[in-house]
Amino acid sequence: MKRNVFAVLALLAFSLSFTACKDDDDDMAAAPKTLYERLGGKTAISAVVDDFITNVAADPNMKRTFQPLLEDVAKGNTARVTSLRNNLIDQIGQATGGPEMYKGKSMKEAHKGMKITDTEFNSLVADLTKSLDKFKVPTAEKTELLTALAGLKGDIVGQ
Ligand code: HEM
Repeated sequence: MKRNVFAVLALLAFSLSFTACKDDDDDMAAAPKTLYERLGGKTAISAVVDDFITNVAADPNMKRTFQPLLEDVAKGNTARVTSLRNNLIDQIGQATGGPEMYKGKSMKEAHKGMKITDTEFNSLVADLTKSLDKFKVPTAEKTELLTALAGLKGDIVGQ
């Protein structure tokens, strides 16, 4: 009799753990992680954007377009760079499936009259890549994000 009780308990435990595993699998299948989640959400994206802005500020290829903004910062006026930072975080957040909402100008409008060249665009992408590498963003997520941003090139270069 004792043996039977053990057998029933063991069977019950097995079927419960099996059901639990099955449920976990179902949940994973129902909700694949967004790029936003895989990047580490707003905290990780903000850290990358902050580092990226530091790279841009030190990049000679960015000097032509970012000089006015850097002069503001040198004078202690950080309003523009803070606005750019927050806009970039919102833009990346929204584009990767996060809850942020980009409230800035369209890419065409924001870069109008700047006559941004291919070289400048590629330099900016390299500055961002450096930051993604610094924060050890895996290749798949890095490629996904850079591919999404590359799609904006036509609205940014040569305007
Ligand atoms: C995928 C690439 C890029 C993205 C996602 C991007 C995004 C943005 C965003 C969100 C803004 C702020 C718009 C607003 O204030 O409403 C902005 C402004 C600006 N961008 Fe870009 N941009 C890109 C490429 C570039 C490149 C290649 C350059 C220069 C070589 C550049 C130079 C600027 C400058 C100078 C501003 C204005 C900053 C200010 O004075 O407030 N951007 N960009």
